[in-house]
Amino acid sequence: MTLARQQQIQVVAHRGASDEAPEHTLAAYRRAIEDGADALECDVRLTADGHLVCVHDRRVNRTSNGRGAVSALELADLAALDFGSWKNSEAGRTSAEGPDWEASAGEDTSVLTLERLLELVHDAGRPVELAIETKHPTRWAGQVEDRLLVLLKRFGLDSPSGAPGEPSPVRVMSFSARSLYRIQAAAPTLPTVYLMQFVSPRHRDGRLPRGVTIAGPGVRIVRGHPGYVEKLKRAGHQVHVWTVNEPEDVDLCVGLGVDAIITNRPRAVLRQLGRG
Ligand code: G3P
Ligand code: CA
Repeated sequence: MTLARQQQIQVVAHRGASDEAPEHTLAAYRRAIEDGADALECDVRLTADGHLVCVHDRRVNRTSNGRGAVSALELADLAALDFGSWKNSEAGRTSAEGPDWEASAGEDTSVLTLERLLELVHDAGRPVELAIETKHPTRWAGQVEDRLLVLLKRFGLDSPSGAPGEPSPVRVMSFSARSLYRIQAAAPTLPTVYLMQFVSPRHRDGRLPRGVTIAGPGVRIVRGHPGYVEKLKRAGHQVHVWTVNEPEDVDLCVGLGVDAIITNRPRAVLRQLGRG
């Protein structure tokens, strides 16, 4: 692979620069933008009062000083919690040698709404793409997607131009094909990413659910199924691999010519790709 091609691989900050700062906080996303990430990944869930917030787990227990399911809490309840200090606990260390996290003055570690994240991207001062993952959308019968599309429309992001060669600033990702179908039906030009934890027999030949443009295999698939990335590419899909944190996995992805690397360590990956 040429250096030029290597440098075209998109580096996506998984939950922000989540190795350095608490995941899904404004602090983590600001660092990712400072680090030079091309795109930001986030998970979205609905609160009890219908707001989309960026939280990975069903409950807030791991990443905040509160307890309970996001779906049972209102935005005001979540806003009272601290989503930062857990990062200095054992659970918050994403690598054995990972540094303790210290919030600089003014860093925001409160719950992050998707709306606030869209504002951050809008005001980033350079193009930054956003990869939004709908979490457990099947429990919500379309509400997550409806709310997401309302927000994207407000920011003018629900219908990218589709001009050849012009990247879309937003894509929607999910492990749920049904969630992606809903997005495609309402916003046909929005790219969709089908996330995979394992290769199901149905997708063994590299073909993915109808309308899906991008394949999102976990790095274990890439390691354990030689030839699968090629099959996905032959079937016409871009390939975005998650969550790629180790240098040897970055090398593997580079060698296979993937289109995007989703990582907790955007700064280190950019450096490895010769861009840092
Ligand atoms: O980017 C896709 C990846 O985030 C999917 O797994 O559990 O980290 O949301 P998870
Ligand atoms: Ca995710």
